[in-house]
Amino acid sequence: MAAGPPQAKPDRNLALELVRVTEAAALAAARWVGRGDKIAADGAAVDAMRFVLDSVAMDGTVVIGEGEKDEAPMLFNGERIGDGTPPVVDIAVDPLEGTRLCALGMPSALAVIALAERGSMFDPGPCVYMEKIAGAEEIADLLDLDRPLPETLKLIAERKGGSVGDVIVVMLDRPRHEEAIREVREAGARIRLITDGDVSAALLAVSERSPVDLLWGIGGTPEGVLSAAALKSMGGQLLGRLWPRNDEERSAAIDAGYDLDRVLTADDLCSGEDVFFSATGVTDGDVLQGVRYRGKGATTESLVMRSRSGTVRRIQATHDRAKLSEISGGVADRFG
Ligand code: FBP
Repeated sequence: MAAGPPQAKPDRNLALELVRVTEAAALAAARWVGRGDKIAADGAAVDAMRFVLDSVAMDGTVVIGEGEKDEAPMLFNGERIGDGTPPVVDIAVDPLEGTRLCALGMPSALAVIALAERGSMFDPGPCVYMEKIAGAEEIADLLDLDRPLPETLKLIAERKGGSVGDVIVVMLDRPRHEEAIREVREAGARIRLITDGDVSAALLAVSERSPVDLLWGIGGTPEGVLSAAALKSMGGQLLGRLWPRNDEERSAAIDAGYDLDRVLTADDLCSGEDVFFSATGVTDGDVLQGVRYRGKGATTESLVMRSRSGTVRRIQATHDRAKLSEISGGVADRFG
C-alpha cells in the first residue's frame, strides 16, 4: 500500500490554556457587575488575568495591553510574560472589554486575550481609535470604508436576497456617528446602538447566523486588533483605518511612520498563521452568557479558537469557588 502524506501530530493548543486566563478575569470582574465602579472591576480582571497567565509556559510580550508601563502596573505594553520557553508570541489583552457595561450591569462585557507569533500583531502606536467595518464571509468582498454607507447597505441587501430594510448595522452610540446613524436610517436599514463593547459587536457581525449584518464605526484600535485575531478562526472580514483624534495625534502617528490612509485588513491587524483567542462572558450578551454564581459555585461560558486548525470551541465551565481558593493559596478568593 502506498504511504499517505506524513501526518503531523496534534501539537499544543494554547487556546485551551488561555481559556483559564479569561475565565479567571471574568470571574473576578463579575464580582463587580452592577456596582458602579468600573475601575475596581477592571483592576480585579487585570489582577486575575495576570495571575493565571503566569501558569502558561511561553515567551510572551504584551503588545496590546493596559497602556504604557508608567500608567499600568500590570499587563502594560512591552511586559514580558511566561517562563521564557517557546513559543515566542505577541499577546493582546483586554481583561475587561466594556468596563462601563460591567459597572452598570449591562450586556456583553467580556474578558479577552489573543496570542500570535512574535511580530505578527499590529502595533497601533499613538492611535487610540480606528474606523471599522466588519461582516461575515458572505459579504466580506462588499466591505469598503470609502464607499457611502447607504450604497454598501444596498449591496448587502442584494447579496442576501432581501431589502435594505432587512439589514441591521451595529454601531457604538457616539456623537461622532450621528451623521452615519442618520444616513443608515434614511436608507431604510435598522441600527442596533450599543453603549460599549465593539469586540463583542464584531464577533456578532461576522457570525453567519447572527441577527446583525454589519459592524460600522469608530472604536478602539486595540479592540480592532483583538477582533481581527478572532476573525482568523471565525472567518469574515474586518477593515480598519487609523483615526487620529486631533492634530497632535495625527502628527505623532505620521512621525512614527504610520500611513493614515491605509486600509488595514484583518490579516494586516493580525498576520499570524497560528493565532489563539479566548473570550469569556462577564455579563450576558448575544455572543456569550455571563458569569452566574450559584451557591458555592459559578459557571462561565467562553469562545476558544485557534486559527491554524480553524477550531472554534464554546466551553461551558462550572467552578468550585472553595477549591479554587484552596489550590491558589487564597488568591482565587478575589476571582471566585
Ligand atoms: P473599555 O472596556 O476600555 O471601557 O472600552 C469599551 C469600548 O466601548 C470599546 O469596546 C470600544 O472600542 C471603545 O470603548 C470605544 O471608545 P470610546 O468609549 O472612547 O468611544
